[in-house]
Amino acid sequence: MRTIAVVNQKGGCGKTITSINLSAFLAREQRRVLLVDMDPQGHATLGLLSDAVQPSRTMYEVFVEEPGERPTVLRDVIRNVRENLDVAPADILLSGVPEALAGQIGREDILADALAGFADDYDYVIVDCPPSVGLLTFNALKACSEAIVPVDPSFFALHGIGKLLETFDVLAKETGHQVAVRALVTLYTGRTAFAKAVADDIRHHLYGRHFGTVIRYSIKLAEAASHGVPIAHYCRECVGFEDYRALAMEVLHQEAGTASDGLVTFEESAISASTDADETEPWTPEATSKEVVFTIEADHAAQVQVMGDFNDWNLEGSEMERVDGIWQKVVTLPPGRYRYRYIVDGRWQSDPLNVAVEPNPHGGFDSILVVDEEQLAG
Ligand SMILES: Nc1ncnc2c1ncn2[C@@H]1O[C@H](COP(=O)(O)OP(=O)(O)O)[C@@H](O)[C@H]1O
Ligand SMILES: [Mg+2]
Repeated sequence: MRTIAVVNQKGGCGKTITSINLSAFLAREQRRVLLVDMDPQGHATLGLLSDAVQPSRTMYEVFVEEPGERPTVLRDVIRNVRENLDVAPADILLSGVPEALAGQIGREDILADALAGFADDYDYVIVDCPPSVGLLTFNALKACSEAIVPVDPSFFALHGIGKLLETFDVLAKETGHQVAVRALVTLYTGRTAFAKAVADDIRHHLYGRHFGTVIRYSIKLAEAASHGVPIAHYCRECVGFEDYRALAMEVLHQEAGTASDGLVTFEESAISASTDADETEPWTPEATSKEVVFTIEADHAAQVQVMGDFNDWNLEGSEMERVDGIWQKVVTLPPGRYRYRYIVDGRWQSDPLNVAVEPNPHGGFDSILVVDEEQLAG
């Protein structure tokens, strides 16, 4: 039985849509699947159980015993959705779990214990996590040996992923429980250079820890969920159908052991290849009396940007100007220490000729520039 948590503390990045559709496609491939809804918002429950009848028992009761009643076990709450697909539903009551269990020993292992007896019943358990890193998420992570981290291409998503990876490290250190983590790019439009840059960054810095499949933006996915059905029951001629089927195939492929070493080598799908920036031969930024000239050689590039803490990593106004194959940007900077990176045709990179680099929170390297008083005065 494979146990997979779909987790990211950021809301709206596609956890629930991923949980629902991955579960449904795995079930179509004759795998017996249980989707456990661990989000008090209950969106996965609503997205699968279209009948308005409220499920009488939910995950809350698995966590919290009602006084005077027979304890509820997971089997009591599981509902069949269709062939090969069951759901353990949740609703807003679940948000009361952390308070109800405050101080209770072993409260982080309740889901793991509840799933212990199901190895013969299911091939897959998919756990849809809430948008926070609390007791419910910890239960999910301790119950699962794999995790899918959906990441939408926004700058904050990328920063958040570093934080989340730390959570996995803390878990491993404190409990010895290892989780194989893979990022999944979701809500991908490919329309902006920024989306491409973030997706590229994920591919480069999480190499072997991301899926080759990219989930593109598809309004049909949202529509299907609002009708309480997976995409396959709503529309088969849309990118949402294609992409989640591809994801399921990739997950199934891992069954064969190809990914047992954590390396996933699938063809990149929706993201087009960009210029190999390693061929460039740029110079480090040169500090002058009032200005810093960022310079990078990228002869074949169509667009080059420079971003750093000096412009709040803002894409706006980050474009560099091309002068004979050399890209330049003049920035006026007060004395200080700065982090920066270039984006060459949508691909992030540190400054290849600047040896001063520091790791950043999402696994890459920022170049470091120190502007001191003397240089500015000179
Ligand atoms: N690939 C996609 N294309 C279009 N809309 C999407 C896609 N993935 C998710 N959505 C929509 O975005 C919103 C957030 O997705 P959801 O899966 O609920 O995120 P989370 O569970 O991480 O909060 C929902 O309205 C959902 O229908
Ligand atoms: Mg959700």
